[in-house]
Amino acid sequence: MAAMTKLALITGANRGIGRSAALHLARDGVDIIATYRSHADEAASLVAEVEALGRRAVALPLDVARPAGFTLDAVLPHFERDTFDFLVNNAGFSRGGMIADVAEEDIDALVDVHFKGPLLLTQSLLPLLADGGSIVNLSTGLARFTSPQRAVYGSVKGAVEVLTRYLAAELGPRGITANVIAPGPVATDFSGGIIRDTPEFQEHLASLTPLGRVAVADDIGAAIANLLRPGNGWVTGQRIEVSGGIHV
Ligand SMILES: NC(=O)c1ccc[n+]([C@@H]2O[C@H](COP(=O)([O-])OP(=O)(O)OC[C@H]3O[C@@H](n4cnc5c(N)ncnc54)[C@H](OP(=O)(O)O)[C@@H]3O)[C@@H](O)[C@H]2O)c1
Repeated sequence: MAAMTKLALITGANRGIGRSAALHLARDGVDIIATYRSHADEAASLVAEVEALGRRAVALPLDVARPAGFTLDAVLPHFERDTFDFLVNNAGFSRGGMIADVAEEDIDALVDVHFKGPLLLTQSLLPLLADGGSIVNLSTGLARFTSPQRAVYGSVKGAVEVLTRYLAAELGPRGITANVIAPGPVATDFSGGIIRDTPEFQEHLASLTPLGRVAVADDIGAAIANLLRPGNGWVTGQRIEVSGGIHV
């Protein structure tokens, strides 16, 4: 009997790391539920790209800060499934600020998008996540080392790393793995594109990195897809830094 096609849900899949992860997973034969917040056009083009790779895909709007009411009821039949296999909590943003003057609304926004929202989303999707499935959360190198103005962002991602270990502990009995990928600096739209668009900053970051450059989205998307291959089924509760070895 042919193995059942796996199905992944990736948040923030319309661009950047999430889009790359979706395309790498599709190349591995995985069908895709892609969520987007505000760029329906980008999400539609991702769906077309996945379909061109011979896989099925749908795009759904989702503000991860407010996952209440998000449902897969209407889309799972499209995949002839009543469960899905992989949850990739990727969507996110950053906003800088020193501890001395960071605004409460910025703290709330970072907690909501990176921690509380993904926790509530994961909670609501647990009944639909197949036994033997996997969760991949996204953290950052900034949860291990410090950088100016990144205290709240780095700390909230630190909470994501702790949550990942608890997910691994609680979901192990269902054969579900939970791991966290922590990218170093990646040249995407992230933080207003500051890494991608500032050559001096890139050079500085590259000088701190054994592999000698900043990452592109595909460096991280490939690692996410790799982690979800069958050979990694015994890896759970782990933080995997994908950073070219920055500040090693
Ligand atoms: N780039 C880096 O240097 C870096 C380093 C370490 C970790 N990370 C982490 O990697 C993940 C992806 O980053 P990226 O570099 O791919 O960023 P990106 O290119 O800016 O893309 C961010 C994605 O997240 C979505 N998003 C942002 N806020 C959202 C919200 N409230 N609800 C739903 N979707 C939201 C965006 O949707 P819209 O297009 O609709 O806005 C977009 O799809 C994030 O968790 C980030 O913290 C990034």
